[in-house]
Amino acid sequence: MQASPTIDSAAKASQKAVESTMLSPRFYTTDFAAMDRLDVSSMRSEWDAMMAEYEGDNNHDHFQRTPEFAQEVAERFSQVSPEMRQEFLGFLISSLTSEFSGCILYNEIFKNVENPDIKQLMRFMARDESRHASFINQSLKDFGLGIDLGDLKRTKAYTYFKPKYIFYATYLSEKIGYARYITIFRQLEKNPDKRFHPIFRWFERWCNDEFRHGESFALIMRANPHLLRGGNVYWIRFFLLAVYATMYVRDHTRPMLHHEMGLESTSYDYTVFRITNDITRQVFPISLDIDHPAFREGLAHLFKAQTEMDKAKSRGGLIGNLQRARWAISGAVTFVRLYFLPVQRHELPAQVRMLPAW
Ligand SMILES: [Fe+2]
Ligand SMILES: [Fe+2]
Repeated sequence: MQASPTIDSAAKASQKAVESTMLSPRFYTTDFAAMDRLDVSSMRSEWDAMMAEYEGDNNHDHFQRTPEFAQEVAERFSQVSPEMRQEFLGFLISSLTSEFSGCILYNEIFKNVENPDIKQLMRFMARDESRHASFINQSLKDFGLGIDLGDLKRTKAYTYFKPKYIFYATYLSEKIGYARYITIFRQLEKNPDKRFHPIFRWFERWCNDEFRHGESFALIMRANPHLLRGGNVYWIRFFLLAVYATMYVRDHTRPMLHHEMGLESTSYDYTVFRITNDITRQVFPISLDIDHPAFREGLAHLFKAQTEMDKAKSRGGLIGNLQRARWAISGAVTFVRLYFLPVQRHELPAQVRMLPAW
């Protein structure tokens, strides 16, 4: 379990959003001139159909709270335990930070390119992410924990990623975001008594936005096929593993959240990996073998290493530092082992776009 301080004030909520750890969502910046040179013309017909969907904006009225929202929070969420409340607040803050991270990146690209295709796409995606971030922030405000997004934008550290890393990482985070939200939505649709907060009612139409954002990066990558061949396949493999492993470790630090929904962290994560593996066949020539016993053991070990590092950190002193280093090495060795496990290879389909059919 992570030894994070209790989130009981707006200042602590902001501190949590600003923090940079291995597991916390980051803010990115990139090479705008290279983004400007992108050419998507080989995917023109699929691209234009997608742009028409963005233009149609079928979620323009979705992110508004209903009058029953506050009542549901008062009646249902007030029943959860204080520990569970903390896990949920942590979940809201990290989700808000990821949404806002997308909003900032897409908006910065929008402002810094002239390329009409990329500019238009970034404007639409920034619009969607801004709605998502504000919607989550309203739920934090219910508890007096609203985050000042202008301040977060100014104070959080930015990581520079080359455009191709942005494509791999952002494509994956959009698609895995879809898979996470739809899995939760379907579970709570079947078990409405487990819906402890009304925000989950919004997840179905919400995650269709994330799905479409992922489609956009899929088309960009398929229009630039060198990104999906040769040495770049090693990068794809790295990003797949990094994204899956981070999600696994982060979710296992919040077991109550899943339990409260009638889910269990490990099976929930594997459901999400399975959906993500099915989707990413549209663009990646490989996928991770998530059913390999060594894969499962490796991820469980990464969580164990993280838990031990957190314990050692709170212990402090020389012994604490040595133990922390020992588990950091153990985690790194496991990551390398996971990286070299066999992967599944496949041909890319002629038609790129998929429907969010889960
Ligand atoms: Fe989003
Ligand atoms: Fe998104």
